[in-house]
Amino acid sequence: MKIAVCGKGGVGKSTVSAFLIKALLDRGRKVLAIDADPSPHLARLLGFDDSSIKPIAQMKDLLNERSGRDGPFYNLNPKVDDLPEKFMKKKGNLSLMVLGAIQQGGAGCACADNAVLRNLLNRLLLSENEDIVLDMEAGVEHLGRGTIASVDHILIVVQPYRGSVETADKIDRLARDLKIRSLHVVANNCQDEEDVKFIEEMCGCKPIGVFFTSQDARKAERQGRPITEAAPEMVEAADKIISALEKA
Ligand SMILES: Nc1ncnc2c1ncn2[C@@H]1O[C@H](COP(=O)(O)OP(=O)(O)OP(=O)(O)O)[C@@H](O)[C@H]1O
Ligand SMILES: [Mg+2]
Repeated sequence: MKIAVCGKGGVGKSTVSAFLIKALLDRGRKVLAIDADPSPHLARLLGFDDSSIKPIAQMKDLLNERSGRDGPFYNLNPKVDDLPEKFMKKKGNLSLMVLGAIQQGGAGCACADNAVLRNLLNRLLLSENEDIVLDMEAGVEHLGRGTIASVDHILIVVQPYRGSVETADKIDRLARDLKIRSLHVVANNCQDEEDVKFIEEMCGCKPIGVFFTSQDARKAERQGRPITEAAPEMVEAADKIISALEKA
């Protein structure tokens, strides 16, 4: 299955992604994790040494070379098929590709870089040999229709406060415009059942999964340890989400 994880800044997209990845690996599956966060740190959460990992979005020479940027002109369909092999990090059944931010289209020269990053993302999403978890930046505006079409499930991470739910609402509308078939709310950082109920009422739907606040996960994150090893109850919550998605 191919899962994209989105939501407002800081709601726990990377945390939820890391636990979903762990739950899939625990089921013996092969997983491709794609970090498309502007400040990517999925590698650290998953226990990779991230000191040597540079997001593709920051490889200016490579992006220039592939986009063939020359003044206002650039290649709309740049070559990317050799990049996964070159830059993918591997650990057992887990592969990790750190893309960094794919910015929105519009003014400026970011378009040329984005053509490379988007082509690469679309290529990665074509992979049929493994499950995919895509840790995204806030919103879905920056994803093209082609990208959305190749994702099976979109999870919107929500915390029990109004601002987070309002963003979720916006994502929900955008995602529906793009005709995403499987779209679900994941409640995160809940203190109690009242928090879960608040999210349910504000979103008008039952979350597909609930992560409670974990002191162990917080501590592990602060110490730079892989959080997925620190909070078994969060792995369990993620596993329930995988089961629910399989039935969705
Ligand atoms: N259920 C939880 N229990 C305890 N701490 C949590 C939980 N969920 C997230 N956190 C903590 O909240 C912080 C933000 O989480 P995270 O980095 O996953 O958010 P994000 O949505 O990916 O942020 P960004 O928008 O910056 O990419 C982290 O320090 C993380 O450890
Ligand atoms: Mg993140």
